[in-house]
Amino acid sequence: MIVTTKSLFEVAYGRFAIGAYNINNLEQTMGLFRGCVDSKAPFIIQISKGARSYTEKRMLEAIIKAAEEVFPEAIFAVHLDHGDEKTALECVASGFYSSVMIDASHEDYAGNVASTKRVVEAAHKKGISVEAEIGKLGGVEEDIKVDEGNACLTNPDEAKRFVQESGCDSLACAIGTSHGAYKFSGSQGLHFDVLAEIQKRLPKFPLVMHGSSSVPADEVERINKAGGDIKGSKGVDENQFAKAAELGVTKVNIDTDGRLVWTRVHREFFRDQPAKFDLRDPGKIFMAEYAKFIAHKNEKLGSAGKLDEVRAHVTKK
Ligand code: G3H
Ligand code: 13P
Ligand code: ZN
Repeated sequence: MIVTTKSLFEVAYGRFAIGAYNINNLEQTMGLFRGCVDSKAPFIIQISKGARSYTEKRMLEAIIKAAEEVFPEAIFAVHLDHGDEKTALECVASGFYSSVMIDASHEDYAGNVASTKRVVEAAHKKGISVEAEIGKLGGVEEDIKVDEGNACLTNPDEAKRFVQESGCDSLACAIGTSHGAYKFSGSQGLHFDVLAEIQKRLPKFPLVMHGSSSVPADEVERINKAGGDIKGSKGVDENQFAKAAELGVTKVNIDTDGRLVWTRVHREFFRDQPAKFDLRDPGKIFMAEYAKFIAHKNEKLGSAGKLDEVRAHVTKK
């Protein structure tokens, strides 16, 4: 059942975080639904601009609609990840999305507020909620590259003003994470101090943590042993998700770790079985491994086991 992102946040806020997982194809979608149903977790399925153009955006929408029928017990929201204004407005108009992200964080403050406000006005007319971003995460977001030196943490006072002025419904904050497989080089980690200050100024307001993959060392090692060449570096410690959730992080974005699962499965498969060429053979292994990975992440996020509670909340309305 597709529900509003808002309704998921209402149940989760301050207690647990909802996993927001990116999809690009059928196998990822199957693994995602299987993992969430097995762990009895609500979730957010995210589509990036790149994912929309990888095959054809209607293909992804059709896959999601089919998955909704195949897994009638699943409860989830559909979200545009890192949209620009044009894409966000397109998704609002399409009527398929539960929420959209307008990422104008590369613009100056006034430009970010203005773009976000325009999307909010269109989205709210249709009951769609809007995630915006303030501060700069390191790494790569779509075609926007931010090096570590230019990444800057969200200013809590600015965050409050931004929410008031833009009318957004949730806020992606820069609290030390970055996108991709190359995150913390040393002993840095999440800036809980900044998060606590943001929560103080924006009580009960859902915050979003991007760049939340863990980049597990053993996964990177297996990929490299099977012919890969991934540098890897420490990612987000998944044992910190619970503390982040208490401090208002209600949505946790994870994409890179899933890509690592895909890479490991396929590299090991073809290394060990060089004569094989049926794409369905590694595909089946990937779907099962991805489901296991998702269920594990949901345990760490605290969303596992919350499906009945969420169902009761969304159906009482
Ligand atoms: O933050 C970006 C997400 O991982 C999506 O990546 O733009 O390559 O689809 P993508
Ligand atoms: P990761 O690259 O850490 O998986 O972050 C994904 C993300 O933030 C998607 O918006
Ligand atoms: Zn992101």
